[in-house]
Amino acid sequence: MMPIAPLMIEHRLIERMIDVMKEELLLIEKKRKVDPEFIESAVDFIRTYADRCHHGKEEDILFRDLGGKKLTDEHRRTMEELMEEHRWGRKVTGRLVEANTRYVHGHREALSAIMDCIKTLVEFYPKHIEKEDKHFFIPCMEYFSEEEKEAMLKEEWEFDKTLIHEKYRNMVSTAEKILTARK
Ligand SMILES: [Fe+2]
Ligand SMILES: [Fe+2]
Repeated sequence: MMPIAPLMIEHRLIERMIDVMKEELLLIEKKRKVDPEFIESAVDFIRTYADRCHHGKEEDILFRDLGGKKLTDEHRRTMEELMEEHRWGRKVTGRLVEANTRYVHGHREALSAIMDCIKTLVEFYPKHIEKEDKHFFIPCMEYFSEEEKEAMLKEEWEFDKTLIHEKYRNMVSTAEKILTARK
């Protein structure tokens, strides 16, 4: 298996969540109200799965190793664009969290910001994924030997193994801090 295979499989799950978010956006537009719990779940998916787990493997393994190769100008430019897009996606997700918090606290005008952020994310992800799937991942495999590809794949499995522990370690630390602050 090539190291881009798990990444491409992850793209399919991200697309499914994006489809759900698209449908939810239509409902929000129709009803002029939002289910804050849905937003929280969508944000958890984006932050934990799409960003930490998926973009994490892209940036910390694939892009890191590509960084050590003599890339064509086009590939180097695309890789920089992809990383910039990851950063931009994080900012939009942060804005969605803020808007959802405002909404939960009774600020109904935050609805338009929530809709705007979801619209931005559902338009962003398919384009970003298409750029990787169709124009970057496969040609980039040419830079690596079989051994290098195998090592990357192994590192990806190791990366995934740590994530659930990281997520819940962070959750407990946050819960401890909140508890301390309330004492
Ligand atoms: Fe990406
Ligand atoms: Fe990706």
